[in-house]
Amino acid sequence: MNIKSEVSSICVRKSGPLEGNVRVSGAKNSALKLMAAALLAPGRSILHNVPRIADVVWMGELLAQMGCAVSHQSDTTIIDVPDEIVPEAPYEIVERMRASIVVLGPLLGRFGKARVSVPGGDDFGHRPIDMHLRGLKELGATFTTSHGYIEGRAHRLEGTRVLLEFPSVGATENLLMAAVLAKGETVIDNAAREPEIEDLASFLNGMGAVVDGAGTSTVSVEGVDSLIPVEHTVLPDRIEAATYLAAVGAVGGQVCIEGGRADHMKMFLNKLVDMGMEISSAADGIHVARLDRLHSVDVSTLPYPGVATDYQPLLLAMLSVADGIGIVTENIFGGRLRALDELVRLGADIRAEGHHVLIRGVESLSGARVRAPDIRAGAALVVAGLAAEGETIVGDAHHVARGYEDLVGRLSSLGANVTHM
Ligand code: EPU
Repeated sequence: MNIKSEVSSICVRKSGPLEGNVRVSGAKNSALKLMAAALLAPGRSILHNVPRIADVVWMGELLAQMGCAVSHQSDTTIIDVPDEIVPEAPYEIVERMRASIVVLGPLLGRFGKARVSVPGGDDFGHRPIDMHLRGLKELGATFTTSHGYIEGRAHRLEGTRVLLEFPSVGATENLLMAAVLAKGETVIDNAAREPEIEDLASFLNGMGAVVDGAGTSTVSVEGVDSLIPVEHTVLPDRIEAATYLAAVGAVGGQVCIEGGRADHMKMFLNKLVDMGMEISSAADGIHVARLDRLHSVDVSTLPYPGVATDYQPLLLAMLSVADGIGIVTENIFGGRLRALDELVRLGADIRAEGHHVLIRGVESLSGARVRAPDIRAGAALVVAGLAAEGETIVGDAHHVARGYEDLVGRLSSLGANVTHM
């Protein structure tokens, strides 16, 4: 897989209205979990529509270190899982990619043992995994922690009713993957409802699992004795689609986002319509047009089907140049407002108070050197740069390559003035 992860900066110049068609890749936040889920069955699982991004390469490396044979051909990833593996996720990989914690559920479910480096703080600050561990304990696993590693053990897990304190995406996924091979029925209450959870359930059911209710708050799993490998196509990336929508929001134009699923991002699209964008859903994807300057709106991030936290930096970028005052409230990750200071460097008029942000839209931003603090904030700075006079250099662009397949090439194909440096 050829990825521009070594690219350190993205250069953005003020761009006119965007025109044309752009295709979205498969969802990062589904593909990574499906790769982990492949561990549940010996043999060859095949994933199509896998985004060619750094995180997918790292997840492949993690599975390879465990003893799987992993190959990537274009957007297809093939994973051959042996009968026995090394059930360990080392520090070097977990530290780079927190999502690797999702191997815990499948390892305990199938092999009854797992050794996973304790995920440290990350781009959003402190991020605990207490809900993952508590749920797995309720299924019968035991954990010890030493020398920076969590060691989990289980005889065969036993189904039970688990109530999540919060609809955590990762905890729901870990529990789902652990429960499919448990003895008896597991019910996850207050489960996350994101489309990626439905994609995971459909992958697991293709392996012979019996999962019901994915996409609702109550997911039930009837455990089976063994699973078989599966061939599956990853659902489209709603956050990537949102990034092109935000780019049109920032500089105007008319674009078709091929493969975009409007039904996976309704609340976000409603907000964009409130801001003055024209959006329609068609067989080929999402059609978007923006002719006049956007109006400001207030937005709060919430678990699905609410406006996702991942859209928040993109909304900040759009509101920075919208007409009026908007208030954005970040309810999911307390530390996820790191695009703010960088947007201020571009001339945005922003004030933050706790997890609330007040943005007074300005007529125009002005290009400057900024730094991508994480994947989505990095993409949002690229979007803001399109609306900024002169040149914006987004440093630390390796963050963007973690989650976007050729963001620069795809925006350029719409007429945006963006290049790698
Ligand atoms: N939380 C806990 N304890 C836990 C688990 C979560 O307190 O055991 C808290 C988190 O700290 C956070 C909230 O619960 O405040 C929600 O976290 P969640 O578990 O839902 O998030 P996640 O699974 O760690 C995934 C995505 C994120 C996305 C969130 C939306 C992946 C790899 N990551 O994270 O995506 O923002 O769901 O909830 O799927 C990205 O793609 O850039 C990204 C960060």
